[in-house]
Amino acid sequence: MTPDKYCILDKGKLNLAYPVILAPLAGISALPFRLINRKAGCICAFAEMVHARSLSYNNIKTRELLRTVPSDQPLGVQLLGNEPYYLEKALEQLEGYDYDILDFNAACPERKVVVKGEGAALLKDLHLFRQLLEVLVQRAAVPVTVKIRLGWDSAGQACDIARAAEDAGVAAVFVHGRTRAQGYSGKVNYKAIAGIKKSLRIPVIASGDIFNASLAQKMLEETGADALLVARGAFGNPWIFREIYALLNKEPLPQRPEINEIADVMKEHFHLCGDYYGRGRSAVRFRIFFVWYTRGVPGIKALRSKVMHAADEQSMLECIEEFREKGQGGKNP
Ligand SMILES: Cc1cc2nc3c(=O)[nH]c(=O)nc-3n(C[C@H](O)[C@H](O)[C@H](O)COP(=O)(O)O)c2cc1C
Repeated sequence: MTPDKYCILDKGKLNLAYPVILAPLAGISALPFRLINRKAGCICAFAEMVHARSLSYNNIKTRELLRTVPSDQPLGVQLLGNEPYYLEKALEQLEGYDYDILDFNAACPERKVVVKGEGAALLKDLHLFRQLLEVLVQRAAVPVTVKIRLGWDSAGQACDIARAAEDAGVAAVFVHGRTRAQGYSGKVNYKAIAGIKKSLRIPVIASGDIFNASLAQKMLEETGADALLVARGAFGNPWIFREIYALLNKEPLPQRPEINEIADVMKEHFHLCGDYYGRGRSAVRFRIFFVWYTRGVPGIKALRSKVMHAADEQSMLECIEEFREKGQGGKNP
C-alpha cells in the first residue's frame, strides 16, 4: 500500500461506499474472475488464498496467484499457515506488492488443510490463533483481518474466537456463518453472526449463502454486519453485484441479463483467461465457468458436454457462440 493511498480499513472503520466484497476463492478468484466481477460493479476483491510457506520461498506458482493489474484495486490478499516464522517471511515477500488488506485464513475446512493444524483447525487453539494474528498485526504494512468460521463443530465459542481476534489487534473480522463441521452446506447461523457483531467494536463482514440480492439484504438485517462477502453467488453471475447495489440503495432491481449479455460477458471472461493462463490452457480453465454462466438455461445439457471436451480457444469460442444462437430471445432464469 502506498502511503497516501485511500485506506479501506482505518481506525476501526470500514471505508467502503458499497459494503460488498468479493471473497477469497481458492482456484476461482484469479485475476480474470476478479476483473469480470469488478466490471459488473464489485469494488473490493480478494485474490486467491496463498500459503505463507510457499510465498516465503517465492514459489513461482504462488506468485502467479497474486498476479494483478492497476485496475484490480482495492485488493485483498489472504494467507494460510500456522507458523509465525513463515507468516513473517511471507510478509517480506509482499513488500512492494500493491494491496490493501491482509487477511488470515482460519476458516478453510478442507481435510488436507486442517490435518496440518491450519485454516479452521486454528479455531481449536485460540492461543496459537491469537499469537499468529499478533505477528501479522505487528508486521504487516496494511490493515490485517481474519476470516473465521463460527467454530469447529459448534457455534458455542464463536464470540470468544472473534474477541480473541479483536484483542490481537485485527482491523475487522470476516465470518462465514457455519462451523467447520458444516462444510459449505447446512443453514447459515445468522444469530451467531449477530452475536459476534454485538460483542466486537471492529467491523464484522458476514459470509454465507449470499446467492442473490434478497439474501444479501437478509444477512445485513439479521446480523447487523457492516459488510458482506459474496462467494458462490458470483459463480457465473457477476450481475449479483449490481443487483445487491440496487436493493441496498432502494433502486429498482435491474433485469436479469439476457442471453446476449451473458454470452458477451462469457467471451470477455474467456479472453481474460487467455491473457492470464495462456491461450493453450484457457479453454480447460474456462469450462467450469461456462457451466456456471449457463446454469438454469433450458436445453443446455448437450452443449455443456461439448464444452467439457473443448480443449482449444477456437472450440470454446464456438461453444459460446452456439449458446448465444440457441438461446437468442431467451432469459437466464
Ligand atoms: C470453491 C471455493 C473456494 C473457496 N476458497 C476460499 C479461500 O481460499 N479462502 C477463504 O477464506 N474462503 C474460501 N471459500 C469460502 C468462501 O469465501 C465463503 O466464505 C463461503 O463459500 C460461504 O459463502 P457462500 O455460501 O456465499 O458461498 C471458498 C469457497 C468455495 C466454494
